[in-house]
Amino acid sequence: MHIIDLRSDTVTRPSKGMLDAMIKAEVGDDVLGDDPTVLELESYVADLFGVEAALFLPSGTMANQIAIKVLSVPETELLCERECHVVNYEVAGPAVHARLLINLLTTERGMITAKMVEENIRPINVHCPLTKTVSLENTHNRHGGTVLPQDEIIKVQKVCKKHNLGLHLDGARIWNAHIATGTSLTDLVKPFDSVSVCLSKGLGAPVGSLILGDQEFRKKCHRQRKLFGGAMRQSGYLAAAGLFALKNNIDGLKNDHQNARFLAEELSQIELFKIDLSRVETNIVIIDIGQGKTAEEIIDSLNSVGIKVVPFGPTRFRMVTHLDVSSEDCKEAVGRIKKLYA
Ligand SMILES: Cc1ncc(COP(=O)(O)O)c(C=O)c1O
Repeated sequence: MHIIDLRSDTVTRPSKGMLDAMIKAEVGDDVLGDDPTVLELESYVADLFGVEAALFLPSGTMANQIAIKVLSVPETELLCERECHVVNYEVAGPAVHARLLINLLTTERGMITAKMVEENIRPINVHCPLTKTVSLENTHNRHGGTVLPQDEIIKVQKVCKKHNLGLHLDGARIWNAHIATGTSLTDLVKPFDSVSVCLSKGLGAPVGSLILGDQEFRKKCHRQRKLFGGAMRQSGYLAAAGLFALKNNIDGLKNDHQNARFLAEELSQIELFKIDLSRVETNIVIIDIGQGKTAEEIIDSLNSVGIKVVPFGPTRFRMVTHLDVSSEDCKEAVGRIKKLYA
């Protein structure tokens, strides 16, 4: 049976073109600073986003954690959205690496508003932790791939400036926000002091993330990358995959978005499933399960018909479209699921 893997956009395998680009890469020793393909990737990404500098790292988690550590001040407070990746899936990173207290703010669709930031800045006195940093996530994974409203981000930036707070973006799926809204990558990251972006999600590279910022920020993150054990040697082979992904795979994200929309609309016709279609703005579909059934039961039966998904809570699961699932695969998946439940 043909397996349709909708667990995550991280499950993609490098295409033939990407593997060819990797094999042909010129490499050096990036710890010694002379891998030409890593340098090319960093400069390509900096230009793409209109920022001074970029730094190549092995993972999105490391990129977020280093960026937040460098941006923040130890023993102060970080404001994050309750469902964000930085807090829910990066172990206790901000507490361990940066010695931060985390204040989780609850939102409807992943956006911490300027008003919320303003209201949550602590008074400056001897009792209270100092609020020094804010982190946002665009698109927002646990809210269903929602795109953060750019006008509100700009308001948040103003509040951060006024109160001298650093503003970080987990932009693992910033490419999806760009394709969904048409807002340029440059405009999407302009309000932020630091940004992490991933090559290994929708863009289909096997490994790799980058931190974006100014030269001074990159220099500090570069030192932290060594401390975290994330400095790599002939990483030009991986950078070549990233360059290939950036040059070939950004526009194709619109297919992933259409496929997610198709899955969401079709599956919402099944009584057992509840899907908030207004959240399906990009490549993620979150499905709430009714009738007393659990995610575990549903996932087992989907597995039995060759469809892989991940749990997103006791009665909720997630589907993600990506380069390695076609519109035909999505039609096939809907057919198999309707046979089980419709
Ligand atoms: C929104 C978001 N940020 C960061 C990450 C971390 O990326 P990595 O798995 O490369 O550490 C992920 C991973 O899925 C993610 O979804």
